[in-house]
Amino acid sequence: MVSATARPYIDASVPVLRDHGVAITRTFYHNMFAAHPELTNLFNMGNQASGVQQQSLAAAVFAYAANIDNAAALGPVVNRIVHKHASVGITAAHYPIVGRHLLGAIQEVLGDAATPALIAAWDEAYSELADIFIATEKTLYATAGITPGQLRPMRVTAVSDQGDEMKSFVLEAADGMPLPRFVPGQYVSVSVPFADGSTQLRQYSLSDKPDGQTLRITVKRVPEHAGHPAGHVSNWLHAHATVGSILQVTHPFGDFAPDTESNMPIVLLSAGVGITPMIAALNRIAAVNPAREVIFAHAARSAAHQGHSADIAAAKAIMPNLRTAIFLERSAGSGRADAAFFEGRMDISLVPEWTHADTDVYLCGPVAFMQKQWRDLLEAGVPAQRLHREVFGPELLDYLT
Ligand SMILES: Cc1cc2nc3c(=O)[nH]c(=O)nc-3n(C[C@H](O)[C@H](O)[C@H](O)COP(=O)(O)OP(=O)(O)OC[C@H]3O[C@@H](n4cnc5c(N)ncnc54)[C@H](O)[C@@H]3O)c2cc1C
Ligand code: HEM
Repeated sequence: MVSATARPYIDASVPVLRDHGVAITRTFYHNMFAAHPELTNLFNMGNQASGVQQQSLAAAVFAYAANIDNAAALGPVVNRIVHKHASVGITAAHYPIVGRHLLGAIQEVLGDAATPALIAAWDEAYSELADIFIATEKTLYATAGITPGQLRPMRVTAVSDQGDEMKSFVLEAADGMPLPRFVPGQYVSVSVPFADGSTQLRQYSLSDKPDGQTLRITVKRVPEHAGHPAGHVSNWLHAHATVGSILQVTHPFGDFAPDTESNMPIVLLSAGVGITPMIAALNRIAAVNPAREVIFAHAARSAAHQGHSADIAAAKAIMPNLRTAIFLERSAGSGRADAAFFEGRMDISLVPEWTHADTDVYLCGPVAFMQKQWRDLLEAGVPAQRLHREVFGPELLDYLT
């Protein structure tokens, strides 16, 4: 909890930060990368360039300010961030660097409005949050038994197409050590080297159940679009990762964890490449509890874009209580108009029914997809605490602000 002296300054600055948040975040990153160019290897420079990350840090600052004494609201957000931080190897030594440049940016953008008392209040608030993050990250590293940022060499043992745009890569440990444990829903970061000497990390959800022998990821190639360049890491993986290649991979992290172990019904909803954590969950349930009631609904642009059809068919063959609904925006000519297929985007009213009160619903897909489904699910009477989501980019924290 921040002190009684700092509190009024924090409260009063929330609307000001809302107005200037993006400018503050942009100034912060610009100054920090100028002083510490080595940090560009840790950050997702694609998100920096497209502006997504700027929004996210601004959103985190607002969320923190607005919920500073509300641990219940802040808890899930902190949890998501610390897992992301652990996946990219953030250490305690990084925090003073970020703190210095964040306070400097507030000062630079607000000018005279950033009085010494206001800066002191934010210094205190930042330190308090940093202490929580540092302690939680330390526990995550200790539990995983790794040093921050540790990468492991993993050999690609199989590559397969998942529709037109996605490829699956099966990986085995190339260092002779046992594979890390994980739960469906978690991701690894993959570090790839570029010709200019830089490296970049990207997160990929594990797309198969844990088997102790291999990890599988499924990567969608991000094409050049509307003046934006082709995605750096996804295209590198599609072009360079072949059977026998060695990839540098982190320990699995992530707080999105569909409950695959209970007997309760479960609903898994996804769109596009958001299918990956859902397939890991489905394959785990098929292995440990094939009689479980599962609703698996997925939306893809067309049959040619849909990945992991073989996993779904294999699960269906052994899961009598698995009900599926596949939505294809362009189903015309696909020849797949059987009962489980629908033309158009996902419409929750067409998904098989379930008992809302006690069934957990897990969502993963593009932000617009999730916002629509989230709204529709709430309207349909699904309690908010039954909804869980994974975002394949910085979480926008919109449910907090
Ligand atoms: C928890 C989590 C799990 C994920 N799981 C998966 C998964 O299972 N499968 C999967 O495929 N992806 C997954 N992702 C997304 C993945 O991490 C990458 O974001 C994705 O592969 C794109 O990375 P990239 O390097 O190819 O694209 P980037 O190079 O990062 O580009 C991203 C976007 O920014 C734009 N951009 C890049 N540079 C610029 C520039 N200079 N100017 C303007 N715009 C620019 C690009 O055009 C593109 O639209 C996950 C992400 C997270 C956070
Ligand atoms: C209290 C301080 C901090 C806050 C509030 C904060 C907030 C955030 C948020 C909201 C995200 C996005 C998480 C998501 O994907 O949903 C994130 C990711 C990240 N943070 Fe932090 N962070 C803090 C400290 C730091 C520090 C000290 C570093 C180290 C330099 C750092 C480096 C990163 C990196 C590299 C990512 C991944 C983002 C990317 O992909 O570019 N953060 N942080």
